[in-house]
Amino acid sequence: MTRSQFLGTGMAVPEQVVTNDDLSARMDTTDEWIRTRTGIQERHWVREGETGADLARAASRRALEMAGLEPAALDAIVYATSTPDHFAPGNGVFLQRMLGTGPIPAIDIRTQCSGFVYSLSVADAWIRTGMYRHILVVGAEVQCTGMDISTQGRNTAVIFADGAGAAVLGPTDDPDRGILAFDLHSDGTYAEKLWVDSPGSMYHPRVSHQQLDEGRHFLAMDGKEVFRHAVVRMPESVAAVLAVIGASPADLKLLIPHQANLRISEMVQKSLGLRDDQVYNNIQRYGNTTAATIPIALDECVRAGRVSRGDLLAFTAFGSGFLWGSVALRW
Ligand SMILES: CC(C)(COP(=O)(O)OP(=O)(O)OC[C@H]1O[C@@H](n2cnc3c(N)ncnc32)[C@H](O)[C@@H]1OP(=O)(O)O)[C@@H](O)C(=O)NCCC(=O)NCCS
Repeated sequence: MTRSQFLGTGMAVPEQVVTNDDLSARMDTTDEWIRTRTGIQERHWVREGETGADLARAASRRALEMAGLEPAALDAIVYATSTPDHFAPGNGVFLQRMLGTGPIPAIDIRTQCSGFVYSLSVADAWIRTGMYRHILVVGAEVQCTGMDISTQGRNTAVIFADGAGAAVLGPTDDPDRGILAFDLHSDGTYAEKLWVDSPGSMYHPRVSHQQLDEGRHFLAMDGKEVFRHAVVRMPESVAAVLAVIGASPADLKLLIPHQANLRISEMVQKSLGLRDDQVYNNIQRYGNTTAATIPIALDECVRAGRVSRGDLLAFTAFGSGFLWGSVALRW
């Protein structure tokens, strides 16, 4: 039976580093508050002119290089982002143009923090059915241009950040390798708990001066509500995806949780009974890069030699939607 496996990974973050002290100079917050509540020490934000597609291109080139493939060898692009460079078209086509692939399919997945897990499920299905062979899966975000960088927006401005991660997937017939199972969910009851209201096609016009004055184009979050659900849904989903393959958390070599908040990751770890060496976190250095957190973390683990062939891995994500899910795989 054909499965999909990872052939290469890559990541890229903007050059500009923004520390907690940099934020304290712009809003009423402190390094101590941010570290204690979120674990974040610094993050990267784009400078004017730098785009999400630029970050995606850099991450993709590294993933292609590791895979030993030229862009021309790609059969499809699946691009997860909640912050496309434009309202339309999606960012997949900009990446397709930049990489100079053939005229291959390029789709955007709009499932925010869960974007990379959902994108893997699409790429995996395409590969298993034999529809496409080599698929570039990207998670990339530019959050800093959509946040209120003032005291009023401090509950999101200190958390979200910019970056990109990429992976090249291809088919394998090895029964001991590849993507094994997914667990995917949504609950739209909470759609407004973490969202960007405007611009929206329900408004005439899609964005108005009044909406801008009211700050409705900024990312808005009910942090407590997100926290409350994330710490239940993520462990529940990891347990569920492992149950599908007859495994338990103890069997995991590595869990990469979406880097929402270090406190959330710690609670997920505790509730699954995992040791420190079984969970990877890097939110301290990058903040929450939404769809990019998992592929960035994966690339760091791969390049640091934290995963070996045959290891059981799981990724889990929760966020805006609410949407959440997990994937289990053997490296
Ligand atoms: C955002 C989060 C850290 C806030 O922590 P919290 O304890 O819930 O804080 P609250 O939002 O209730 O705010 C508590 C106080 O801190 C203040 N505050 C919020 N952000 C602050 C900041 N950056 N610096 C200083 N004070 C801040 C609030 O204004 C509030 O003040 P008040 O009591 O005078 O009204 C927390 O809710 C969280 O991590 N939620 C999950 C967020 C997340 O992971 N999102 C991504 C999901 S993909």
